[in-house]
Amino acid sequence: MQILKTIEQLQNIRKTISSNVGFVPTMGALHDGHISLIKKARLENEIVIVSIFVNPTQFLPGEDLDAYPRRDEADKRICELCKVDYLFMPEISTMYSKEEVLIKAPNKSYILEGLTRPGHFDGVLQVVLKLFGIVQATNAYFGKKDAQQLSLISQMVKNLFLPINIVPCEIVRENDGLALSSRNVYLSTEQRSEALLISKSLYSAGALVAKGELNTTIIKNKILEIMKNLDVEYVAIVDREFNEINEIELKNSIILIVVRFGKTRLLDNIWL
Ligand code: PAJ
Repeated sequence: MQILKTIEQLQNIRKTISSNVGFVPTMGALHDGHISLIKKARLENEIVIVSIFVNPTQFLPGEDLDAYPRRDEADKRICELCKVDYLFMPEISTMYSKEEVLIKAPNKSYILEGLTRPGHFDGVLQVVLKLFGIVQATNAYFGKKDAQQLSLISQMVKNLFLPINIVPCEIVRENDGLALSSRNVYLSTEQRSEALLISKSLYSAGALVAKGELNTTIIKNKILEIMKNLDVEYVAIVDREFNEINEIELKNSIILIVVRFGKTRLLDNIWL
């Protein structure tokens, strides 16, 4: 595996590659969720490129960019074990200039995640577009865990006619159901066990739908009842375009949950 620190290095290497390139953009502190994306990319492409870049423009003022976990050495080792060909770790100063062409995410970026983090998705789309421009990948891998991010990136690719295929990847969970996240380390033992109610409520909702219940108010109430002792920020049931819906449409619905444990926000969802 080669570690590339500059954009120029990556661009020069890219010119020599004529086969399929699979790309996995990350902010590092890699866990099994990230690893599943890398493994899928490894299976489906001749060349695999992973980026680790803690992108400042997707952090809002007051969100602690400096506190974001950094584990470069462990991450390099993980990428090596996953047989990544190139690990791209650019410096902030090379990725951004003083004055930038800005990307404005559509209105649906200001609901749900964007309501508490207005502008967050502008930064996500901006960096993803830059990375796509540098890497020129055939396929790019994103987790369904960040459903709104995945939806907005897919829309950007469509709207800007970008020649890249977006591959949605399943959510990886602990054995007990907790969705993997770099934020899980901030949970106390007690919070960690309370957090299991999130996936439990999603599974119950899935079971209700399997039994034929399609009314989203009834499903939401069931979820809220299971999580009644938690600090729930939102439960939303949307279609794949992120419009709220009154009735579940199979193969076109997502149930999204965000719960707060002190300063830690945990996201989870189920795709129906
Ligand atoms: P990051 O939070 O590092 O996540 C990188 C990728 O891993 C995302 O596509 C995310 O959805 C996926 N992922 C995280 N947890 C997962 C899990 N439990 N199961 C499956 N996939 C999971 O998302 C970002 O970075 C950034 O916003 C980025 C897209 C890199 C732009 O800066």
